[in-house]
Amino acid sequence: MKKLTQAVFEERRAILAGEIGLRSIAIIATSPVAMRNRDADYKYRADSSFLYLTGFAEPEAVAVIETFDTEEEGYSYSLFCRERNREMEIWNGYRAGIDGAIQDYEADEAYAIDLLDEEILEKLQNKDRLFYRIGQHAEFDARVAKWIATASGESRRGTSAPAQVIQLDRIVDEMRLHKDANEIELMQIASDISADAHTQAMLVVRPGMMEYALEAELNYVFGKNGGVPAYNSIVGGGENACILHYVENDKELKDGDLVLIDAAAEYQFYASDITRTFPVNGKFSPEQKALYNVVLDAQIAAINAVQIGNSYKEPHNVAVRILVQGLLDLGLMQGNIDDIIEKEAFRQFYMHGTGHWLGMDVHDVGAYKVDGEWRAYEEGMVVTVEPGLYIAPDDETVDPKWRGIGIRIEDDVVATENGPLVLTAKVVKTVEEIEALMAKVQAA
Ligand code: GLY
Ligand code: MN
Ligand code: MN
Repeated sequence: MKKLTQAVFEERRAILAGEIGLRSIAIIATSPVAMRNRDADYKYRADSSFLYLTGFAEPEAVAVIETFDTEEEGYSYSLFCRERNREMEIWNGYRAGIDGAIQDYEADEAYAIDLLDEEILEKLQNKDRLFYRIGQHAEFDARVAKWIATASGESRRGTSAPAQVIQLDRIVDEMRLHKDANEIELMQIASDISADAHTQAMLVVRPGMMEYALEAELNYVFGKNGGVPAYNSIVGGGENACILHYVENDKELKDGDLVLIDAAAEYQFYASDITRTFPVNGKFSPEQKALYNVVLDAQIAAINAVQIGNSYKEPHNVAVRILVQGLLDLGLMQGNIDDIIEKEAFRQFYMHGTGHWLGMDVHDVGAYKVDGEWRAYEEGMVVTVEPGLYIAPDDETVDPKWRGIGIRIEDDVVATENGPLVLTAKVVKTVEEIEALMAKVQAA
């Protein structure tokens, strides 16, 4: 199993320490455990920025990075975590504990999480600036506010507390937005697993199958390869594909319908995000094929627009123009292409954006605009490219033959000096490739 080494996390902490400047402190808390129902919790997933800086996946942990009066003093990394506890470990599993935090996670100092309120007041003394991500978890925000108030109160004893509280995201999000080779490698693994899952779905789908049964096939491929779903899978047959966040996945897949699957794995905390749309019976109808090819043309052109130096919005603009031209050609829209684009009248059939940053979070962090302008692609940024067309089942402005068809095609693309690198190319997407793959099985 491919994993990032401690050296990677250490380098990230060193960069962060450089960014926060002298006499500063950064506090990064992981996510709280989320309860599912009564005393059953969701499987734990640590906070992505916390993981990015520590590699520490246990719950109830806080990382603290401190800098001092001079550069020569360097920085200090403290990890607050759960102590080892034989009884708790028998019930709930292994804990790294204080020794593990130092030996395995390379903390300079480690403390029991229960000591956080006490120790943090010491660390806040004589710091000018506190970096913290406000607004993520109300309960932790309140604790931080209390620490600042208490530390400020103590200044009467001649010490000083941070006068400035600064959003930490600005720094860490920018670091996370640019992926290095190690991260791309993990995203490639996540994408390969996800591509295999989509291929498996194409191979096993049959009219009469339930959407959840197809979802189970995806989960099996994710799981047996060390992945977990990166987000709630969408498996929408027929007109369910027109519900953008359809996750019930509880209807029957019908002969003659398409099925839209938006599902992908997370591997070692890095996500993939793939959508494919294919016929339940293995063969596109003429209308399905015509609309599908419009979306595919738009998607291929949009992928090609993920070029270093291009605006983040360029793939969207390219996709929209091709989608609108296709809708005009097929008679689903009438009018002038520029007017339709200008007035955004295409939103009747295409109501979402063409992509988003992808990384440790499926909708990953990173500013989309800089100084009010859409930013340009830079080396190592990863974006999804996911145009679609959705003809509502009750849309009386179009010929009934088009109604209830929903199509999206989504791939994950890295901006590189050599042009766009598609991480998810392993799963087929042309009409011919999909029909050929599905025919092979239907014949077997
Ligand atoms: N799967 C979520 C998205 O495509 O944005
Ligand atoms: Mn997406
Ligand atoms: Mn998606």
